[in-house]
Amino acid sequence: MSDKATLEYNGEKYEFPVITGTENEKAIDIKTLRAATGGLTTIDPGYKNTGSCKSEITFLDGEKGILRYRGYSIEELAEKADFLEVAYLLIFGELPNTEQLTAFHLDIKNESHVDEEMKKILDAFPKSAHPMGVLSSLTSALVAFNPVSVNVTSKDAMYGAIVRILAKFPVLVAWTMRKKKGLPLDYGDDELGYVENIHKMMFKKPTKEYVKNKIVIDALDKLLILHADHEQNCSTSTVRIVGSSHAGLFASLSSGISALWGPLHGGANQAVLEMLEAIVADGGDTKKYMAKAKDKSDPFRLMGFGHRVYKNFDPRAKIIKKAADEILGDLGIEDPILDVAKGLEKEALEDPYFVDRKLYPNVDFYSGVIYRALGIPTEMFTVMFALGRLPGWIAQWREMRLNNEPIGRPRQVYTGENYRPFVDLALR
Ligand code: ACO
Repeated sequence: MSDKATLEYNGEKYEFPVITGTENEKAIDIKTLRAATGGLTTIDPGYKNTGSCKSEITFLDGEKGILRYRGYSIEELAEKADFLEVAYLLIFGELPNTEQLTAFHLDIKNESHVDEEMKKILDAFPKSAHPMGVLSSLTSALVAFNPVSVNVTSKDAMYGAIVRILAKFPVLVAWTMRKKKGLPLDYGDDELGYVENIHKMMFKKPTKEYVKNKIVIDALDKLLILHADHEQNCSTSTVRIVGSSHAGLFASLSSGISALWGPLHGGANQAVLEMLEAIVADGGDTKKYMAKAKDKSDPFRLMGFGHRVYKNFDPRAKIIKKAADEILGDLGIEDPILDVAKGLEKEALEDPYFVDRKLYPNVDFYSGVIYRALGIPTEMFTVMFALGRLPGWIAQWREMRLNNEPIGRPRQVYTGENYRPFVDLALR
């Protein structure tokens, strides 16, 4: 089989190498396109056909519904690993042994303080501020308190920066929620596990001891693992492209948080729950909302449905749907929202509009049902997504810097005015 692709244009033929990934994915390498053709470029809005990098971190096959981190299936990881192990795996490439995991956790605990001055920044936000805006700002502000830029050629400096953000980010997450709820800020406890500690920092009441609930911690672990990476999605590409200008890790992450916020991306989890609540409040008429979603003159979309890459099923959605049933059952919660979600899914899976367009529930269709059962406010859902995605962003940023990738700078096709002479203000 040829490992070259030929482009014919204006009577000339140009050959470009075809590269093959470890899962036999093929890509035409067009690095020399402009030089070879005298300036031809490509156009691909939304990058639907464009690979921006080679990556060893996450493999996904949208047709077969496969998702693997560093070769391990998402199903096995969600079942058998905890979030910190998965974070280590994503960032450093291998599952840690007990000694490595313990040392990693210890290093994180040693960095978990956030400068007290940061509280002044938090205080300046109104209580009504969306937690994603607060989180993005606080993450950006961390740069001011940790001004040394990472020497990416030093293994120790790189490790130090990674540990620092894995330690401080959960504190910021907890602060954003406590601010929203009007609760005093709480400090972590080094005796607790990584996820347990996050839960404690978010939920500990000032008047009560923190009591661990295994069902809740396991549920959180699972949700965070399922969100931990998803190759070159919108927020990850943002982190990589911002980092490609050699902006620091914290600044790159802050921009990733902003990208995640949008309802077409991570913000979908909040949008899904608000949609389900609206349907319940409206008498549970799912058919009405299905019709709205199909009506091209109505901007309403069935939130939590569809995915740029998954055109068969989203493996994370399968795991989450099962988990939602189990967790609500274990916690003894009956939520009409879950029934409406299942009803919508059933109808969509039988509806030609959704079937023809290969629109299936995505990771966020059921995640909000679980977050709600865990007592997490709706506006915090996307923050929880960011917490889960943190190791993925770090891993992708690290890979990009270690590979010394060039600054990200797409081309365009200009369709504006041709040259025209300037017109003086008085003559316009
Ligand atoms: N409801 C109704 N119609 C939809 C939906 C939906 N949720 N999603 C896609 N469609 C339709 C589009 O209108 C379009 O129809 P057309 O061919 O008749 O014009 C067709 O399906 C293809 O949709 P695109 O928007 O072109 O697909 P794209 O790959 O660009 O978008 C996206 C994917 C953004 C996820 C989209 O499906 C969507 O908006 N879903 C709802 C938001 C959501 O759940 N986002 C979370 C994604 S997962 C994540 O980021 C974690």
